[in-house]
Amino acid sequence: MTFLTNLDDKTLKAGSVPTFTLSQRGRAGMQVLGALQKFSSGVLRPIAAENFDASQRGKELAADHQAEEPELSPRERIAEARKVCESDPVYRLERFFQRYVAEENFNRGIPAIEERREKFEAFNAAQAETELLGTLDLNASVPVPKYYDRIEWHLEPGGWDGYDLYGALFAYGVGPYVFSLGGYAAVGIGDDITSQRVNTIKQFPKDSYGRIFEPGCGGVSTLKAVNSVFPEAELHGADLSPLLLKNGQKMASRFGFPVHLKLADCACDTGEADESYDGVITYALHHELPPKANREMFREMFRIMKPGADIVISDPPPFRAVSIFHAVILDWDTDNREEPFFSAVLHDSLDEMLAEAGFVNVESYAIGRDQYPWITRAMKPGAQAQAEAA
Ligand SMILES: C[S@@+](CC[C@H](N)C(=O)[O-])C[C@H]1O[C@@H](n2cnc3c(N)ncnc32)[C@H](O)[C@@H]1O
Repeated sequence: MTFLTNLDDKTLKAGSVPTFTLSQRGRAGMQVLGALQKFSSGVLRPIAAENFDASQRGKELAADHQAEEPELSPRERIAEARKVCESDPVYRLERFFQRYVAEENFNRGIPAIEERREKFEAFNAAQAETELLGTLDLNASVPVPKYYDRIEWHLEPGGWDGYDLYGALFAYGVGPYVFSLGGYAAVGIGDDITSQRVNTIKQFPKDSYGRIFEPGCGGVSTLKAVNSVFPEAELHGADLSPLLLKNGQKMASRFGFPVHLKLADCACDTGEADESYDGVITYALHHELPPKANREMFREMFRIMKPGADIVISDPPPFRAVSIFHAVILDWDTDNREEPFFSAVLHDSLDEMLAEAGFVNVESYAIGRDQYPWITRAMKPGAQAQAEAA
């Protein structure tokens, strides 16, 4: 997810946002979606949760979810809980609105941007003339992994690179009018995703960092948060989407901080040197990869991190950490909001994956409501500990 959500952000430089707006039709159409999403997750969802909790089967499943020796497997329990939820018209209406908004973000958003195509193209071209900071390397020939190919993530037509003005759509349409209100996927209603990113970066245990790497950095919203907390750090990121990387370098330059970006499959080979980073951050990444690719990515991160370096992760909470009702809500994204690996990853354990890759001091905890943001952090053992283990 890569966008500005708050166009009043005081750190925005003059000229960072367009001086023109969407048409009234375009803007109001997006605002209706924001209002629907807010109503759905802010009003309907709590009623559906109460109805679930009040039902006999809901109570049994909640108890099984907490039990030390549960009767049902997590998958069976969520499947049973989904049946209880689906017997409630309030739940069904809430989910209808969620799906409707997720689709309409693009059905309405793309035409709203198209109405202003010439203006957005001119705005982008004007930025291209300004001096770009940092570096962008799109030259590597990177085979697209099978799991990534042809997925229309979050129902985005054509996937991350499917529309040349997705940057404008997220930054000036879906971001400020819909996503900024929260209440979708793991993001709670009213939650501010910009401050969630900053609070995540504050989970790094040291006071300062030399070089920080972000696999799956997208359009650098998270590296921007890293820059706000650790302005001294040299920032590097890699992603599989050329469009997001190009937009990311432009956005970072507009905010005045350099980033070094490259096209790479971070579950395979980042092309970075061994033991060259003091910190790794990942944000909203692992639920978009199959567990096997996540394991490979953690091995690659371990390789490029210096002994004693820290890794901090924010991703949706595992099913074991949330209520059984909330597990049904999260699980729904897999089949209904084009998130093919969401459930597989939430059933798995990033903690175990990190430990398998060799990390130590692995811990995970929530820093927000409904266990989101969910933080997992760990350290690559220091040189001495590595020598002792060898
Ligand atoms: C939900 S976005 C999050 C972007 C960014 N971390 C942020 O905080 O805005 C997930 C990103 O992971 C990227 N991605 C998925 N698999 C990847 C891989 N194997 N290597 C590099 N990037 C990957 C996608 O292209 C996408 O940009």
